[in-house]
Amino acid sequence: MRHSLLAGGKRFRPVLTLACGQALGVADDVLLPAAAAIELIHTYSLIHDDLPAMDDDALRRGQPTCHVVFGEDTAILAGDALFAEAMLLVCEHQPGGPDVVVGVLAEISRATGVGGMVGGQYLDLRGAGRGAGDAMRRVHALKTGKLIAASVHVALTVARPEPHIEAAYRAYARDLGLLFQIVDDILDVSGDEVSLGKAVGGDARLDKATYVSVYGLERARDLAGETHARARAELERIPGRTSDLMDLTDMVFDRRN
Ligand code: IPE
Ligand code: IPE
Ligand code: MG
Ligand code: MG
Ligand code: MG
Repeated sequence: MRHSLLAGGKRFRPVLTLACGQALGVADDVLLPAAAAIELIHTYSLIHDDLPAMDDDALRRGQPTCHVVFGEDTAILAGDALFAEAMLLVCEHQPGGPDVVVGVLAEISRATGVGGMVGGQYLDLRGAGRGAGDAMRRVHALKTGKLIAASVHVALTVARPEPHIEAAYRAYARDLGLLFQIVDDILDVSGDEVSLGKAVGGDARLDKATYVSVYGLERARDLAGETHARARAELERIPGRTSDLMDLTDMVFDRRN
């Protein structure tokens, strides 16, 4: 658990939660348990994603993957335990009344389960993104988008802004999560292993349905640009100190790792 968690990921999801707190006027302390819990769950998803039965990757966050160092048996358990510890972290440390604690747990569980990351990972493995219409977008929205959106939603659960402001955040969160995975697909063909800290070319090796395999690299870049512009426009409708959110949004689009 420590090997993967402390290897040095970007910590994008927890930082996103804190940046939402800044715009919503919620102190970091109040959001840290939920923010950290989401990072634990994200790390669990990566440990399992890298297993031989899934993407079979040997490098993550610049380190050998969990199963390479400790064996598949321990890697499966490390992922399972990170999920449970995330829930416990919120139960024990989330400030606020039972409505806030249960609300945060519900957002995180919903984003992780069948209607979220796990359901999306299943569809990814089945190649469901190759289907007609919005199939590709749906897989990405679930496997990656939902947990990123949850990083925004937990801040909303704590801050409870007016419904029209909440709706603007939700629209923003949806596009930001989708953008993140489109860029991830592009980096798998155009990035380099040293800056990414993970191997490139794995999607093609496994014949994965990605934005690049379905639309081609140029169109995938265009779609990333359109999604980025939409996320920025949605963010402009949000009041408060949103400069860090704007920087994060641009970082998701421009990132090299
Ligand atoms: C990688 O996530 C997996 C996806 C959901 C695309 P990140 O790119 O956030 O990985 P870390 O946390 O920085 O290692
Ligand atoms: C993973 O998507 C999404 C997760 C839920 C972990 P990828 O399989 O594309 O992520 P990387 O490229 O291995 O980081
Ligand atoms: Mg995968
Ligand atoms: Mg993978
Ligand atoms: Mg990828």
